[in-house]
Amino acid sequence: MSKFVYVITGGSGGMGKATAELVGKYGTVLLADVSEERLIQTKEELEAKGLSDIHYQTVDITSKENLASLAAKTAELGTLKGLVHTAGLSPTMADSKRITEVNLVGTGLVLDAFLPLATEKTAVVCVSSMSGYMAPRQGPYIDVLKNPLADNTIDAMENFAQGNPGAAYSLSKLGVQLIVEDQAWTWGQKGARLNSLSPGTINTPMGRQEAAQQAEMQKMLDITPLQREGEASEIATAIEFLLSDAASYITGIDLRVDGGTIANIGQMKQG
Ligand SMILES: NC(=O)c1ccc[n+]([C@@H]2O[C@H](COP(=O)([O-])OP(=O)(O)OC[C@H]3O[C@@H](n4cnc5c(N)ncnc54)[C@H](O)[C@@H]3O)[C@@H](O)[C@H]2O)c1
Repeated sequence: MSKFVYVITGGSGGMGKATAELVGKYGTVLLADVSEERLIQTKEELEAKGLSDIHYQTVDITSKENLASLAAKTAELGTLKGLVHTAGLSPTMADSKRITEVNLVGTGLVLDAFLPLATEKTAVVCVSSMSGYMAPRQGPYIDVLKNPLADNTIDAMENFAQGNPGAAYSLSKLGVQLIVEDQAWTWGQKGARLNSLSPGTINTPMGRQEAAQQAEMQKMLDITPLQREGEASEIATAIEFLLSDAASYITGIDLRVDGGTIANIGQMKQG
């Protein structure tokens, strides 16, 4: 029988690595990220933890060609069981256009490249963010967000983000949620499930960089009911669940894993 393959974009990042550690128990793992050096290091770390079937490929998720070759490698390795799309850039990492390109257009490209491999065995989790809840779910950008592969997406979103990386980030992460809702039908035609997951403040290289450079992050923690940041392993266990047969009737949703931050944002209760 063909082996089950779990593809993880952002595979050498905080959440990607934590997820690989869990799903590596069930099948082959294919890590995709931009730096070969960090991919090799991640593979070695996972092998030191007892996992033996770890592969990697250097991929920029904004390149259609790179993604086509990642999908081809996946098909060579076996049956697509899980696609975990964690690759992304936060507001302090790039300008607004590149954030839109990686987080929004990149999500469209990843889903487009892997749809042909989807079967009734397949589940996908795209990592969004609680920031996606901070952009109103109505407005002239909604149609742009749902069509990330249109020719002018980056420029069209720039009209709304106006050069502000934080705004581009929130809008792109709302986009991830809307794309998942919109494409649940298409993936469902193949029996495959497609969900998003929105982390709150998480202790990863990205989370630490944002906390160090943005005062807003402490404010978020102050209003978080659980009064602490989350760990990458707490995102990984939720992804493991969404990929598993235990979630067999769940598709088209966004799962918030944020310690309750968004639930409390309207109430503004603080410790
Ligand atoms: N850490 C947090 O607090 C937090 C909160 C909410 C949402 N998120 C989201 O979670 C996801 C994972 O974040 P993380 O905390 O593990 O961050 P991370 O920076 O540790 O990992 C992200 C990975 O994505 C990779 N990446 C970036 N651009 C890429 C590209 N063009 N092609 C391929 N790979 C690329 C990076 O190299 C990195 O390894 C991101 O989408 C992020 O926006 C993080």
